[in-house]
Amino acid sequence: MHAYHTQPEYLPLLQAEFSQFELLDSGTLLSSERIFPLFAVDVWHDCEILPFQSIKEAAQLLQARGRLWFHYGHAAFRRGSLIGEHLRLLKNKPLTFGTLPPLTPFGIYTLLNEHTLLLCPAPQKPIPLGEMAFIENKTIPPNRAYLKLWEFFTLLREFPKKGELCMDVGASPGGWSWVLAECGATVIAIDKAVLAPNISQHPQIHFQQGSAFALDPRDFDPIDWFCSDIICYPARLVDLIEKWLASGKVKRMVCTIKLQGETDWGSIHHLQAIPNATVQHLWNNKHELCFYYKKQAT
Ligand SMILES: C[S@@+](CC[C@H](N)C(=O)[O-])C[C@H]1O[C@@H](n2cnc3c(N)ncnc32)[C@H](O)[C@@H]1O
Repeated sequence: MHAYHTQPEYLPLLQAEFSQFELLDSGTLLSSERIFPLFAVDVWHDCEILPFQSIKEAAQLLQARGRLWFHYGHAAFRRGSLIGEHLRLLKNKPLTFGTLPPLTPFGIYTLLNEHTLLLCPAPQKPIPLGEMAFIENKTIPPNRAYLKLWEFFTLLREFPKKGELCMDVGASPGGWSWVLAECGATVIAIDKAVLAPNISQHPQIHFQQGSAFALDPRDFDPIDWFCSDIICYPARLVDLIEKWLASGKVKRMVCTIKLQGETDWGSIHHLQAIPNATVQHLWNNKHELCFYYKKQAT
């Protein structure tokens, strides 16, 4: 049995990726299908469902399967917490950007009822439930879009660095450009709208006003990180991504696929099928997905 977790508002999209499942709660489903769905923020493959009689017995079952646990409070919350008192427990706390979450293995458990444990000894994400919450910067970034990039780089465990060139299209008001520049990179920011004044003054951010779709890759030096958070239909983003990939000028791409209205599964699957690309729903994503591509060394 496998469990898949998301935020409740995205559960219908997660459900659409399964042919059979049962709901555990408003954000988690159980299925015999072992997949990596786009809309799961955490994946608990190979769960065990174990009957137990006493709290002590449940704790022993868990201790035999792992040293560090996270209690996902679902049914019988109080009993689950009492079991936790016998375990080394992990608690979710906000991350500081730039500090990587430890890779210490941990498991997740929850109770299906007073006498049944559901446990996953090795969830996919390094943070329980994939909840990538950060200590936010409430003074400089002009909106909260920067949290998506913070999450993406933290999960990748890699950041743009000094000497690298980033292109940020659909950059305004400038949260993403600020993240890239603060990591040390040089940023070419493109948007039809202007950047927030404090962002446009950043010495490493160079703004060009205009449409990202009109750019010719031949006019630019090789780009280490091509980033797009443009609001556009997914099919238009597919064209943009393919144009830049065909140019051979980009090493990596991090693009938000915006999914207004009816979900364009065709474009999503098209992007997913690009060699060396992944598509995932980040915890800080709204009704959108994150596309990532990395050119392989030849
Ligand atoms: C969600 S906002 C980007 C937020 C930005 N990532 C940040 O962190 O502040 C989307 C942006 O896409 C821009 N946009 C829409 N169509 C565009 C186009 N054809 N070329 C460039 N930018 C475009 C909009 O002007 C808007 O600023």
